[in-house]
Amino acid sequence: KRLILIGPPGSGKGTQSPLIKDEYCLCHLATGDMLRAAVAAKTPLGIKAKEAMDKGELVSDDLVVGIIDEAMKKPSCQKGFILDGFPRTVTQAQKLDEMLAKQGANVDKVLNFATDDAILEERITGRWIHPSSGRTYHTKFAPPKAPGVDDVTGEPLIQRRDDTAEVLKSRLEAFHRQTEPVIDYYAKKGLVANLPAEKPPKEVTVEVQKALS
Ligand code: AP5
Ligand code: ZN
Repeated sequence: KRLILIGPPGSGKGTQSPLIKDEYCLCHLATGDMLRAAVAAKTPLGIKAKEAMDKGELVSDDLVVGIIDEAMKKPSCQKGFILDGFPRTVTQAQKLDEMLAKQGANVDKVLNFATDDAILEERITGRWIHPSSGRTYHTKFAPPKAPGVDDVTGEPLIQRRDDTAEVLKSRLEAFHRQTEPVIDYYAKKGLVANLPAEKPPKEVTVEVQKALS
């Protein structure tokens, strides 16, 4: 399966991805995670991406298309993949179609994590992450067993630099202006499944399974 997860910041893409990944044996390609790793490692890509990310703006299409093109070639991605956070502009969607067409492939489904903006600030400001595994917690909705510590490794959790109410505003604006047209792009192709992403995580998982069955 070749799946795309689209939704505003905090809508649950990263929370549902590992579950879908395990059930269907797909690779999980999250452009945000890849960019954050590049920023942390201070690679040339990370240095270019950091400023836009800190402001909650999108990184240039060329940069993200380059990293996805590279990542999709991994052997583990040959059976299929989950794109989490990509494509986020119509240009990125067109480039993805071109990349897939070269392999005689296409997108199978687009899961649209539909939510009201009003619930997202609480989700974003309460999020804590275990950086090396990508495990995500929430102080209220998915608390770790011990505060500030990863359940599995006992290592400390961190918050993302862009997870402030202020930066969320720009991220949401970018979503509405640049990413919502991508949903229309795929809706015209009949590929979009709308998920009620404001429901509790387990109920969203059931909806994902229904959409993919
Ligand atoms: P990215 O990392 O993709 O961030 P985002 O799209 O803003 O999405 P989030 O990761 O914030 O949300 P999520 O949907 O994964 O939420 P989660 O499941 O963690 O991008 C970051 C930046 O990188 C961008 O701003 C941009 O600069 C750049 N970038 C990335 N891709 C790009 C691209 N293609 N083009 C250009 N630039 C790009 O959930 C959030 C919280 O809520 C968690 O704490 C979780 O526990 C909790 N939660 C989840 N589901 C539920 C639920 N159902 N009920 C209650 N709580 C829940
Ligand atoms: Zn995410």
